[in-house]
Parts: sequence; C-alpha cells; structure tokens
Amino acid sequence: MSPSPNAPIGIFDSGLGGLTVAAAIAARLPSERTLYLGDTARVPYGNRSPATVVRYARNNVAFLRERGVKLIVVACNTVSAQGLGGLADGGHLPIIGVIRPGARAALAASEGEIAVLGTPGTVRSGAYEQAIHEIDPQRVVRAYACPLFVPLVEAGWLNHPVTYKVAEEYLSPLIGTGVDTLILGCTHYPLLRGVIDEVATRLLGRRLRIIDSAEAVAAAVEGFLDEARLRATATPRRRFFVTDAPEGVEEIAARFWGDAVGEPLKLEHVDLVDKG
Ligand code: DGL
Repeated sequence: MSPSPNAPIGIFDSGLGGLTVAAAIAARLPSERTLYLGDTARVPYGNRSPATVVRYARNNVAFLRERGVKLIVVACNTVSAQGLGGLADGGHLPIIGVIRPGARAALAASEGEIAVLGTPGTVRSGAYEQAIHEIDPQRVVRAYACPLFVPLVEAGWLNHPVTYKVAEEYLSPLIGTGVDTLILGCTHYPLLRGVIDEVATRLLGRRLRIIDSAEAVAAAVEGFLDEARLRATATPRRRFFVTDAPEGVEEIAARFWGDAVGEPLKLEHVDLVDKG
C-alpha cells in the first residue's frame, strides 16, 4: 500500500543536533507534518562501533515506522555513514540519509579539493569519500575527525575562546592543501559555522565554501516528495520526541531548532525498546 501524502515525515538523530535538519525541512517544506525522534538517552553515537550504531538506528526506525511515516530522514551523519544499508529491514519505507545530498552539494560548489569534518565514526567509515568518488572518482577528499566539537556545542560554547582554539587545531591540516569546499559532516556543526568560517579564513588567507548538509537534505527531501507525488496538503503538525527526560535539554534543543520557523519546540518523552 502506498503511503498517504499527508502522513508525516519521520526524522531521527542520535540526539538533538538533527533538529538543524528538521528546521531546514520545516523552512523549505512548511506544509509537511514531521515527527522527530532524538535518541538522547544514548547519544553520542559518534564514538560507538558500527554494529551498535545500526542496532540503535533500527530501534529509531521501528518507532517511526509504527507511527505511519511516509519517509524517514536519517538526520545523523554517523548513522548515514555506517548504517543506512542495514535499516530498510525488508520494508519499503524510503530512507534518505545526509551523506549523498551533502556530497552532491559539495561537488556542485567545489572546483578543487573537498574537506569533510565529522565524528570519528563518520570519518572512519569513508562514506563521504565513497559518495563523492561515485560521482567524481578523481576528486581529492580529505576527512578530519573533530570529536571535541559535539561536546562544545552541547555545552553552548559557540563563541568561546576554547572553541576557537579547538577549531584552529582541527583546521590547521588544511593549510597548504587545495581545499576550496568544506562539508559540515555532523548535525552539530552548523552551530559552529561562524567559528569554522572565521578560523579557516584566518588560517588559509582565503574563504572556503561551507556546505551545511541540513539544507542539502531538505532539498533532497523536496525532490523525492515531488517525484513520488507525496507532497502534503494537510495542516502541518510537528512533534518532537526524545528518549531521555526532556527537562534540562529544552534550551539546547531550541538552539538547534533556531527561529527560522517561528514556532516554539515542545519535547515529549518516549521509551524505546531495544530489541537488539
Ligand atoms: N548526530 C551525530 C552526527 O551527525 C553527532 C552526535 C553523535 O555523535 O551522536 O554524526
């Protein structure tokens, strides 16, 4: 049975960073209903083994599937990089990850080498290199793990001197390379876009094009819905679930959600059953 156009789009992430993707989807597709799931009880995924990441991701998919979503957006680079193939579960639910849209947007923007910043898991997987090389096998891609960026964002240190120092450390390997485009390959990094832009410009003496995969994913979702004739016509409703207590994380959630949509965020709690 084909899904109803007015069914929600399911979006999940290891935590709250995927709200940057949810916000981009809400801004680009304001008539769509969305159902967001942040696995805040088990975040971060970025340092875990691929098997564990896939197991957690399958729980998230099962939750969204049970709620009748028409499409699942994996708003997490770590899951998209390591586990997208293991998520279909024999079902026919379309699944869109963040890697391919980000890779395509980078290729469209770049005339030189492409750099990717991501979690250790994403970088280890080589998923961005693979996605870029599927389109352009000769392209030089340089990937850098930036494990400290996620806790810095979670702590709200978006303009802190320590964050600038860490960014300098992570970006200095770009000196002397031909990189002209940088992919923010983690859902948390769009909040550090200003810092990354400033530090990279200072270190390299030129400005890099910065690809925020949130925007690229929203465009990919729009393209998919148009092609599948699944654009919603109903009044939109947005719900946000987290697997740990919502109290105490509203502030950081609001930071990721931003104000582009002009709608406040209300987090609801859900317990996920880990079926292994
Ligand atoms: N959401 C993850 C990603 O985009 C970052 C946080 C984590 O490590 O779980 O890779």
